[in-house]
Order: sequence, then structure tokens, then C-alpha cells
Amino acid sequence: MTDDDTHGGDGTHPTDAGTDAGDARTDGVPGGEGPPAFRADGGSAAGADEVALDPWGSSTVGDYRKLFEEFGIGAFDDVLPEVPAPHYLMRRGVIFGHRDYGRVARAMREDETGPDEPADAAVLSGFMPTGDPHIGHKMVFDEIIWHQERGADAFGLIADLEAHAARGLSWDEIDEHTRSYLLSLLALGFDPGDGELYRQSTNREVQDLAFELGTRANFSELSAIYDFDGETEVSYMQSVVTQMADILYPQLEKPRPTVIPVGPDQDPHMRLARDLAARMRFFKVTEGYASFEVDDAERELLARAYEALEAAHDEASPVRCADAAGWLREHEPASDAREGVVESLDAAGKEPLRPRVRFLDRNATDEAFEALIGAIDGEKRVFEGHIDTFDMDRDAAEALAREVEVEHGGYGFQPPSSVYHRFMTGLTGGKMSSSVPASHISLLDDPETGYDKVKSATTGGRETAEKQRELGGEADECPVYELYAYLLAGDDDEFATEVYEECVGGERLCGDCKEQAARLMEAFLEEHQEKREEAEELLDELDFELESPRTD
Ligand code: TRP
Ligand code: SF4
Repeated sequence: MTDDDTHGGDGTHPTDAGTDAGDARTDGVPGGEGPPAFRADGGSAAGADEVALDPWGSSTVGDYRKLFEEFGIGAFDDVLPEVPAPHYLMRRGVIFGHRDYGRVARAMREDETGPDEPADAAVLSGFMPTGDPHIGHKMVFDEIIWHQERGADAFGLIADLEAHAARGLSWDEIDEHTRSYLLSLLALGFDPGDGELYRQSTNREVQDLAFELGTRANFSELSAIYDFDGETEVSYMQSVVTQMADILYPQLEKPRPTVIPVGPDQDPHMRLARDLAARMRFFKVTEGYASFEVDDAERELLARAYEALEAAHDEASPVRCADAAGWLREHEPASDAREGVVESLDAAGKEPLRPRVRFLDRNATDEAFEALIGAIDGEKRVFEGHIDTFDMDRDAAEALAREVEVEHGGYGFQPPSSVYHRFMTGLTGGKMSSSVPASHISLLDDPETGYDKVKSATTGGRETAEKQRELGGEADECPVYELYAYLLAGDDDEFATEVYEECVGGERLCGDCKEQAARLMEAFLEEHQEKREEAEELLDELDFELESPRTD
């Protein structure tokens, strides 16, 4: 998870130069019931339309909306109503985006598994042990813990292989930071009795899965996604397949919805993981109307044609593909989808048109294929590489395909889901960066240092107190307000709203506001560090290899 710009590595990664424009500006929306939410557009900073998602480069997001359009990330607001008692980061729009989170929310709501069984939902995230954990990581720790408290099985992993490969850290350094990340995660409430902590380098199952996943991806694909070229070290690719295995690891116990909370820079990994999960499947379930495969747009056209024609036909004289082609030419405006589907319909000619759910054989063993045939109720037709069924809906077919796959030794992976949080603005303005101590607050900073850093932070205040009273402060542009919203106000929405309203209303002046924030930060760090100390014992009792057997 990165919320900093320290992914520059050693310069061997082709996009290290990255772009630097556009920091993660925030844009609060006052009013409404909850605290002001951060809007999806990243404010009006210069270069605000800049979007670069690079897991090892410098990721910048000027305009969060672009992520929705360009990469197909969903707006978190759309799933928010499905989440019971959402986390404050969700309520405040800090968690702004997701892929397929609805299935995780549903699984958590409906989970009826007992305490000793694997839960129906899981959460996993990973951390490169490259430095001290800071308040950006705290957000992710909290997200993991929140899901754990709501019944999900929780996984926290230390990406030590990646840190070694992509950042060249020695194993001694890695061990030191590993311990520190784990202490903070435990101090914040991660329950190791109801979850799993591991490091990539010693998790044999992850390594084995990584290797298997590597059989489904080739170099061209990785270079297209990550800008790899002939000079890229092989260990970068190993890091990629390892992360793919991390993401799917919670599903080795059983296939289940899994959410990966990350920064948007990790989205390329999510897209690949979702693809690989599908490529490992024994069967692919599709819906169609005839022997040929169609895409979503084409299917919609077929549905309309079928509905229009069906009433006038019966079993003795079914709707034929050629009839549907004629209907579409007459009733639907020309489009690529129409041309595509009409061509297929013409080629199928007299074949009857009939809705069906299809199982395509992707990687099934012969036994699994036979078993699936036997398990399908109702009318079915078996072909060389697929089975068409006529009395099954799609969800039932998906469930059956997965069941048969798992019974025959397959993984049955569900596509992993993700949620994305905003990058925090640095205390000195610009980006929060691990390499600029004044820009961030480390969870290990002395409470007084934390206090001082907040006191010296840039604000969204006006030049003079008079102007501030007259115009109000710019809370939306203020790193200190962000501290309140992301951390200091905790679950207290009223307090977050109060700070915002008082600021923009001109009643709050930056000096006092920072003093209050600084005190809260000091208290937070004090308490957190006490809890870290208490966690030492717990950590040493865990079954976790704190010292790597590797040497440099
Ligand atoms: N690549 C992540 C980072 O840059 C770390 C990571 C490794 C990770 N495996 C993961 C994150 C699995 C989420 C899920 O920090
Ligand atoms: Fe920021 Fe507080 Fe000043 Fe408003 S009053 S601009 S929130 S420091």
C-alpha cells in the first residue's frame, strides 16, 4: 500500500521518472447529514487531470473521477448503502472507489458460519517493510481490522520479497521494519487468533500458488501492464506473481469474496489478479441465445429480438436466428453490436433462437466435465467444449460450476474485490512521502515530534485573521483538516463536521485549530505507542518467523 512517492526504487523500473503533477487535493462538501465528504474530483490544482497508476513509480491522482472513467473503478458511494454501519473512512469519502465490493458487503451481511469455520468473506492487504509505518498505513490497518470485526477472516502480509526485489532492502532492514508493522497492526486491534499474519518469503503455499498463476500470464502481458522491458529484473515479475498469490490466498481455504484495501496505485495488480482468477477456472458460465457466443451489448439486442418475436411462435415453429436478424435490421439502429450479432444470426440461419445458460470448458479435467454434465438438472445439450442448459439461471449455474470444480481439485476462485482510499496530502503540502519526514507522521514519532509536525503544517488558512473571519478558511485544501477527517476525529462525525463548518464559516482560526489537532495527535501517538509495547509479548508468541533465514 502506498500513499507516498517512495516507490522510485533504484531507477531500473522504466516508469520511475513518473509524473509529479497534481497532489491528492481534497474537496469537501459541506452540509448534509454526515461529515463533509471528499468529492470525487480532486479540486482545482494545476495538473489536476493527471492520473498515473504505477505500483513502483510515483503515483499521482489529480482527479479521482478519471479513475472511474479510465480504469473502470466504481464510485464507493454506489455501494455505500449496502454496507451496514460503514467505517468513517467510507462515510467521509476517504475510501472513494471500489471494484466489486458489493459481493463482499453481501457475504459479510449474510454470513452464518460458526466461529471455527472459515468465514464467508475475507480481507487481505500487504505492506512493504521499507520504513516505519506511518499514518497512511494506519488507514489500511484500520480497514483490515474493521472487516475482521465484522466477521471477515483477516490477513495481513509483509511484502518482504517485493521490498527486497523492488527497493533493494537488506534482510536485516526488512526484519526490523517487519516487526514494527506487525506491532502497529496488533496495537490497533488486529486479532491474530481470528486471522493470519505472514511474510511472503516464508509462506510456502503462497509461493506454490504464485508459480501456478505464473503459468497463466506471459511476459508481453506483464510488460504491457507494468512497463517492463528487457532490462527489468526477473524478481520484479516474481514479485508480481507473488502478489497475485497473496490476493488469492484467502480463497485457498474456500472460494469466497475477498476485499483488498489499497491505494489506487495498486489497481493494475487488482485488474491482473481478477483476470488470473478467471483464467484458473475450470468452467466459464455465459448466457446466450444460440450456438454462438455474444458480448453484453449483443446479448441485449438478442433479448429484445427474442422478446418481440417469441409470442408469435411456439415449439412447433420456433423463432429462428434468421428471423431475429431481420427483426434487428428493421427495429434497431445500426451499431457495431448490431452488425456483429446480425452476422452471427445470418450464419446460424435456421437454428432456433432460445435463451440458455452455457458452461464453457476452460481448464476442466475430463472427470470434472463429466461430473458437471451429471449434476445439471433439466434440459441440457452437451457439445464438444461446452454444455448448454435451458432450465437453469445464471447464478445457480455459477454456483454449480464452482462446486464441481472444487470437488475435482480446482480452486474455484471468485474475482477478488478491492476498495481504494485517497492518498493523504503531505503536512508540508504536496504529497505525503516517507522520504520527507516533515511531510508525514510516523507511528513511531515521539508524541512531541508529532505535536510539532502538526503545528508546523501548511493550512488552508487566509493570510490574516481578519480575512479568515471574513472569507472562512479553505478546509478542502487543508492538510490539517485532512488529519481530522482521516484520523483525529475518529468515529465522531459531529466533531469532523464541526471543524469543517467552523473553518469555512470563519469562526475557526488556524492557530487554535492546529493546536487542537496537535494535542490530539500527541495523545494518539502516546496511546498507540503504549499499545505497541503491550503488543510485543503477543507478537513474540505468534507463529511468525520474525527473523528471516536469508542473508544478502
Ligand atoms: N505491492 C504492495 C505495496 O506496494 C504490497 C503488497 C504485496 C500487497 N502483496 C499485496 C498489497 C497484496 C495488497 C495485497 O505496498
Ligand atoms: Fe485548516 Fe483548521 Fe485553518 Fe481551517 S482553521 S484552514 S481546518 S488549519
